[in-house]
Amino acid sequence: MASQIKVPSTIGGALPRIDGPLKVSGAAKYSSDYHFSGMLYAVPVCSTIANGKIVSMDTTAAESMPGVRAVYHRENIGPIYRVPPGEGFSAYLDERRPPFEDDVIRYYGQFVAVVVAQTFEQATAAASAVKVKYNEEKPGIATHLETDDEPKVESTRGKAEDAFNSAAVKVDETYSTPTETHNPIELHAIVAVWDGQSFTLYQTSQAVSNHRDVMAQMLGVPAENVRVISRFLGSGFGGKLWVWPPYLLAAASARKLNAPVKLVISRQMMFQTVGHRPRTQQRMRLGATTDGKLVSLQHDALNHTSILDEYGEGCGESTPFLYSTPNLKVTSALVPMNVGTPTAMRGPGAVPGLFALESAMDELAVKLKMDPVELRLRNEPAKDESNGLPFSSRHLVECFKVGAEKFGWSQRTAEIGSMKRDGLILGWGVAACAWGAGRFAASATVDLRNDGTARVSCGTQDIGTGTYTILAQVLSEKTGIPLDKIEVVLGDSSLPEGPISGGSLVTASVIPAISQAAERAMQSAVMMATSGDNAPFAGKKPEELGFTNRRVHLKEKAPETGIDYAEVLKRMNVSAASGSGKSEEYFGGPQAKQKYSVHSFGAQFAEITWQPEIARLRVSRVVTVIDSGRILNLRPARNQVEGAVVMGVGMALLEETKYDPRNGAPMNSNLADYMVATNADAPAVDVTFLDYPDKIVNEFGARGVGEIGLAGVAAAIAGGVYHATGVRVRELPIRIEDLLGQQEIA
Ligand code: MOS
Repeated sequence: MASQIKVPSTIGGALPRIDGPLKVSGAAKYSSDYHFSGMLYAVPVCSTIANGKIVSMDTTAAESMPGVRAVYHRENIGPIYRVPPGEGFSAYLDERRPPFEDDVIRYYGQFVAVVVAQTFEQATAAASAVKVKYNEEKPGIATHLETDDEPKVESTRGKAEDAFNSAAVKVDETYSTPTETHNPIELHAIVAVWDGQSFTLYQTSQAVSNHRDVMAQMLGVPAENVRVISRFLGSGFGGKLWVWPPYLLAAASARKLNAPVKLVISRQMMFQTVGHRPRTQQRMRLGATTDGKLVSLQHDALNHTSILDEYGEGCGESTPFLYSTPNLKVTSALVPMNVGTPTAMRGPGAVPGLFALESAMDELAVKLKMDPVELRLRNEPAKDESNGLPFSSRHLVECFKVGAEKFGWSQRTAEIGSMKRDGLILGWGVAACAWGAGRFAASATVDLRNDGTARVSCGTQDIGTGTYTILAQVLSEKTGIPLDKIEVVLGDSSLPEGPISGGSLVTASVIPAISQAAERAMQSAVMMATSGDNAPFAGKKPEELGFTNRRVHLKEKAPETGIDYAEVLKRMNVSAASGSGKSEEYFGGPQAKQKYSVHSFGAQFAEITWQPEIARLRVSRVVTVIDSGRILNLRPARNQVEGAVVMGVGMALLEETKYDPRNGAPMNSNLADYMVATNADAPAVDVTFLDYPDKIVNEFGARGVGEIGLAGVAAAIAGGVYHATGVRVRELPIRIEDLLGQQEIA
């Protein structure tokens, strides 16, 4: 009997995404898929200088072109306001200057006007006919970052400088990572609808409630007059977390013209006005004993920012807690440049930071003539030494051991160029990875409906990672309702406020809220089952009843003896039993009041092949072992880590946004010249999850997997390149030229 009503648990299974059919059939609506009658198209005009002032603008030719409805600029767009500082994410954005606020140009591609026309082609043509005269000054575009500013101390303990100076073995090197641009397939897009009082904004957003609040502030309307919808995203990688100028131009134009306005940026604009990962330079000083015990660790990071905004990349994110050392200092400083404002990109801080830290650890291992895995094991801390807190769940040592076994690490011979296969020189490298964990505040509602289906809603987003599926799984687990009877609604700021799709935190954040909402909805069904003479359990008290696997039943009897909740609701003339749930944020860390240090961990093992005769460098395989708590769904989780590893190959070997020092333009602002890793570049990726539930974070023990797979990959590859070639590349991306030049010298 029991097997007939009990739906097998999906937690920990490997399930396809429930939104998959909508996506592959083209039915999923992305922001730019929305169409309305009378819709107009907006195309921005971008500055062609990076530093200076607008002297004059001639829009007359553009205004008289076919189909053009308006050309807006500083004089006529109407007010776009600044956002005052505020709590949480309600006032957060990275580029804080409203578009068109003044006539000063601070980066190439800054919007100076926007053309609205009946067709996209008309708007594009007219945008190129807007004539702007500038008073141009030389842009501050540095390829090497320098500052005299006093750095900010991010974390410190002991006497790092003294301990370094007296250490027996030292590494003192600087590592650089280049500007990288998020290149999701889906460009930033918005369809703005104004009804005379309220905005409905179909816009690419990793944070619909943040976008609602910020758009409302900047447009000068109450938050309840703004609704942001983002049902499906062609990813974001952090680039769509916050509001950027294109959204404001479209919304302000829609209000002016009283017509729906669509604005989709070009790939070129993606390199200019919607954020990027800034260049970093990180001086690492490691001091150790001759038997490989760290005595001092210093990490001094610089990153560029824009002229008006202070974006700190946070390169030292993992450094304070990754290894045991009595003496440590992590600092950061910013270097303003005439570029657009940087923003979070997958694993902000930790990803470039771990390239530096883990490359330096590899260099230390070489100096010590010690196996680089062994060096990590010798410096495993018993607790988070930056704050004295125990780790909620840390299994980094096991990550290394399992990874070494799977990779075949014991066969590694340390001598440079000593390993060969099929005429190729092999290089084996390894690195640790880590990423913060915890929870954002979240709320959700659950409706158990009288037709046997259920609905769960939460104002969070699915950026392509599997959030729709995870929400359905959690509700199914709580209620016993099968996945195909569960509707998941998200991506709408009018829903109960959910977390931003950032920091790999959505899964961990929504579990407690959905769990509470489900319990309350089940309780509501139980109460209906006892209320009134007509009730199926008339005369019983609610506390005598339970809700198990869709059935309302007497607690003293088996669930099979009960009544399906849908029957209860129908009998009582109720459409749905509903409940809402809320959960608080939780972070373990230096600033937190909590009792645990909460992070995910992992180990990356990379094999590269090097063919010196034809200078061919490939990444052939990566073994990655991730300690990310309980994995709710192996399939999307593995997808996340596989994708992140491939992105790591791009970071190591390909990705770099280059600015023209003469005019500040990103020179390779297209997908032909800005190279991302493709299928042809993808190594064989072997992903293992340790799957230790972290019950400190939530009842299922799930942390998150969106970002950690990228961390450490570039360092493992760089270590492999050194192992194969003897060339230590400390500036990404690793280029063939780096390897050839050194060989000529040698
Ligand atoms: Mo992620 S960079 O927090 O979207």
